[in-house]
Amino acid sequence: MRDANPQPVYLSEYQSPAFEVEDLELDFDLAAATTEVTTRMAVRRNPQAAEPGAPLRLYGDGVELVSLTVDGAEPGEGMLEEDADGLLLHGLPEAARLEIVSRCHPEQNTALEGLYASSGNLCTQCEPEGFRRITFFPDRPDVLTTYRVRLEADRAQYPVLLANGNRVEAGELDGGRHYAVWEDPFLKPSYLFALVAGDLACQRDTFTTMSGREVQLELYVEAHNADRCDHALASLKRAMRYDEEAFGREYDLDVYMIVAVDDFNMGAMENKGLNLFNAKYVLASPDTATDDDFVAIESVIAHEYFHNWSGNRVTCRDWFQLSLKEGLTVFRDQEFTTDCTLYGVKRIDDVSLLRAHQFPEDAGPLAHPVRPDHYAEINNFYTLTVYEKGAELIRMLRTLIGRETFRRGLDVYFERFDGQAVTTDDFVAVMAEVSGRDLTAFKRWYTQAGTPHVTAATAQDGSTGEFRISLGQYTPPTPGQEHKEPVVIPVRVAMLDDDGRRIRGRLEGGPEQDEWVLELDRSERSFHFDELSATPRAVSWLRGFSAPVILEANQSATTLAHLLAHDDDAFSRWEAAQTLMRRAIRARIEDDAADSVLEAEIQHALAALLEDPAIEPVLLATILQLPPPRELAELFDCVDPVRLRAERDALEARLYAPLADRLRERQPKLDDIDNGAFTADAMGQRRLRNRLLALRVAAGDESAVPEVLEQYRKARSQTMRMGALNAINDLNHEARALLLADFERRYHDDPLVLDKYFGLQAASQVSGGFDRLEYLLQHPGFRWSNPNRVRAVLGPFMARNERHFHQADGEGYHRIAGFVEKLDRMNPQTAARLVQPLTRWRKVDPARGEQMRAELERLAALEISRDLRDVIERALA
Ligand code: ARG
Ligand code: ZN
Repeated sequence: MRDANPQPVYLSEYQSPAFEVEDLELDFDLAAATTEVTTRMAVRRNPQAAEPGAPLRLYGDGVELVSLTVDGAEPGEGMLEEDADGLLLHGLPEAARLEIVSRCHPEQNTALEGLYASSGNLCTQCEPEGFRRITFFPDRPDVLTTYRVRLEADRAQYPVLLANGNRVEAGELDGGRHYAVWEDPFLKPSYLFALVAGDLACQRDTFTTMSGREVQLELYVEAHNADRCDHALASLKRAMRYDEEAFGREYDLDVYMIVAVDDFNMGAMENKGLNLFNAKYVLASPDTATDDDFVAIESVIAHEYFHNWSGNRVTCRDWFQLSLKEGLTVFRDQEFTTDCTLYGVKRIDDVSLLRAHQFPEDAGPLAHPVRPDHYAEINNFYTLTVYEKGAELIRMLRTLIGRETFRRGLDVYFERFDGQAVTTDDFVAVMAEVSGRDLTAFKRWYTQAGTPHVTAATAQDGSTGEFRISLGQYTPPTPGQEHKEPVVIPVRVAMLDDDGRRIRGRLEGGPEQDEWVLELDRSERSFHFDELSATPRAVSWLRGFSAPVILEANQSATTLAHLLAHDDDAFSRWEAAQTLMRRAIRARIEDDAADSVLEAEIQHALAALLEDPAIEPVLLATILQLPPPRELAELFDCVDPVRLRAERDALEARLYAPLADRLRERQPKLDDIDNGAFTADAMGQRRLRNRLLALRVAAGDESAVPEVLEQYRKARSQTMRMGALNAINDLNHEARALLLADFERRYHDDPLVLDKYFGLQAASQVSGGFDRLEYLLQHPGFRWSNPNRVRAVLGPFMARNERHFHQADGEGYHRIAGFVEKLDRMNPQTAARLVQPLTRWRKVDPARGEQMRAELERLAALEISRDLRDVIERALA
C-alpha cells in the first residue's frame, strides 16, 4: 500500500491480454479472520495478443498464495515468478487449467476494497481493482468469463450466502456449516464479481419484463431496517420499466438482488445481478429521509440498474474508458429522473452540481479529460469529470444528431458490442455511423480537459432587418495541455420579443423555426437570421444548458430580467437570475462597493417573480437561491473564501430583507404540504417553504425564528425537520442549540439520520466550530472506519464552513491534513478524496494558499498511500 513513487499507466501502451479465461470456478471457505479461496480456471492463449509467447499475468494484492498447479502439477523450475503486482506464469502451453489456493483477511481490510467485513457481514467491492485483493487473477476489464461460485460458511453467523447470477444449489454441511453455489451465465470481467455472506432480512417483490418473464427482486438489509425498503423497491421497478420503455432494454437474469452495506466507499456498485449499496442510498422512510434523499435513492437505484446494459452487457476495454459506462449511465439516470419522477428542476440541479464541483475540478490541478490518457491510481478517476461531464458529452451527441438517431445508435451499440469490452471511440463511431456525420472533431471533448468559454454577441442590421449572432470559443490550458483545439459546441438559442414570446425566423435560409441549435465548431462563427417575426428583445442562450461551457454574453440587467420573467426554458430563467446575482457579487468583491443600481434591479425582478402566480413552486424555490460560494469562487483568479462567503450572505440579506413580507406570504402552509406524498408537486411545495423560511432567517426577519421552531416541532417528515434546522443553522440563537440538541437525542442510535446532525454542526458558521468538530469526532456515533461518518463530518466542514476551515491562522487546514494522515492508514481511497479541498490552494488568497500548500508538502514527506500521493503530487506540480 505504501508507495513512494506511483508509476503512471498510459493508454498508448494498451495491449490486449496474453490469455483468455474460458471459465472460472471460485470456492470460498468464508470466515471473517481468514477466508480461503480456491480458484480454478481454464486459460487459453489469446490469438490477438501482441507477443506470442508472453507470460500469464495474475494480479494479486495482499493475497497469500497457498498453492498453485498447472494442469494438476506444480509449476516447473522458473515458471512461477512473484513480483509486486502478483504472479507471472512463464512458458504456459496454448491452453492450461490452473488451480490456485489463496488466503485473505476480511476483518483486517479497512480499505473496503476486495473482501471485507461490515457490521458483521462479509461483502466485496471489486471495481476497479479489488478482485486482485481476493485472489490471483487477470484482473482487468477486458478479460471476460463465466463464473461458478461456491460459498461455504458458518450457518448461524452467515445464514445468507449470495453471489452473481442464479443460485443452482444449496445445502447443509456438518459442524453447523452450509453452502450455496451460484452460476452467472453472462460473460463478465472480474470487477463485476460480488459475494455477500451475512445475517440479513430480505424484502421481496417481482417485476414482469416486457417479454413477460417474471424477475424476483430481493432487497437485503439488516433486520432493524426492514421497514425502510419500500422506496428503493418501488424505485427499482420504475427504473426497470423505464429502461424498457425509453431505451428498449430488458433485464436478463431471473433474480435481481440489492444488498445495503453500512461501510462503503462510494454510492453503490452494479455487480451483475447483485448490486451492493451504501445503505444511505437504499434506506428511507418519511421520518428518516428528506425529499432530496428520496430523489437521490431513486437515481442511484436507477443508475446501478441501468449499468446492467451500459457497463455490464457492454463493458470497458480498460479503465481509461471509464466514462464509456459512467457518463452514459449518468446520462440515462438523469433522463429517468427527468421523465419519470417529473421533477421539474432536475436539469437545473444537475447543472448546479456540474458548476459547483466539476467546473472547479476542470480548472484546477486535478483537471483531466473525460477519457484520460494516463493515471497513477485509477481510484482517483471516479470523478465528476468522468461521470458528470461524461454525461454532458452524451447529451451533446444527442442534441447534435437528434433524439431518434441517437436512440437508434444506442440500439446498434448494445447489439453490436454485447458481451464485449470496448472504448469510447467505439461508442462515438456508432453514433457517427447511424447519423452519417463526421464526429472526429467532437471527440476532442473526450481528450481535452478544461471548460470552454463561449463568447456570444448579437448585431441587428437596421436596413435589411438581418439579425446576426457571433459565437467564439476558448479553452484555458490545463495540466499537461497548454494548447487547446476548438470543440464542437451545440448552442441552443431562442429569441424573445417584448412580450416574452418566442420569435420565429429563418437561420441562413433554413426552415422557419423558433428555436435553433447553433453548432460552434471553430474558434469563431457567425449565424445569420432573417425574416424574424419581431425584433429580438432578449436572446435565450444555451437553453437547457445545451453544452458544459461558461457563457459570456454580456447581457444587460434589463435583458436578464426580461428572460427571468418570461423565458419558457426553466434553465434559462434560472440562469438569468444566477447571472444577475453573480454580477452583483463580482461588483462587491472587485470594486469593493455594492452596485446599488444593479441590486435594485435584481430585487425588483425577484419581487415580480414572487408575485407570479404561474411559476411552479419548485422552480421559484430554486431561482431564489444565490449561487453557492464554491461556484462563485470560480469567477475570480483567487479570492479570500471567508470574505466571499460573507459578501454572498450579505448580498442575500440586502436582496431579501425588503422582500420579507412577500416571502412570508408566498410560503405554503405546513399542514397542507407535510403529507408524506412523494409527488413532484408535493416535493416542490416543501422545497419552496423551506427555501423561503431560510431566506427570511438569512434576511434577518425575526418573525421567522418562532416559525422555524414551530415547523420543527410540528413536522411529520424529515424534510420539514431538516428544513427548519437548515434555516437556523448559521444563526447564533438559543433556538438553534435547542433544536439541535433535540435532534441529537432523537436520532442518537440511527446512524444515517445522525449523519445529518453531524453535517449541520460541522457546517455551522456559528463560532466555536473547532470545539464542535472535536465533539463530533468524539461522539459515540462517530467512527473513523466508516466513510459515511467521516464524510458527514468533514465534508460539510470543508465545503460549507468557510469561517473555520479557512480560518486565517491555518488551523482548519492543519486539522484536516492531520485527519487525512490518520485516515490514509485505514482507507486510502477516502483519504485521497478528503484531501481534495486542500489541492485548490491556488484559488484562495496567497497567504491562505501558502498554508494549504505547506500542509500538502508536509503530507508528501510522509509515508502515504499511492492514492493519496497521486493526488498530492498533482496538486503540487
Ligand atoms: N461503478 C460504480 C458506480 O458508479 C462506482 C464504483 C467505484 N468504486 C470505486 N472504488 N472507485 O455506480
Ligand atoms: Zn456508475
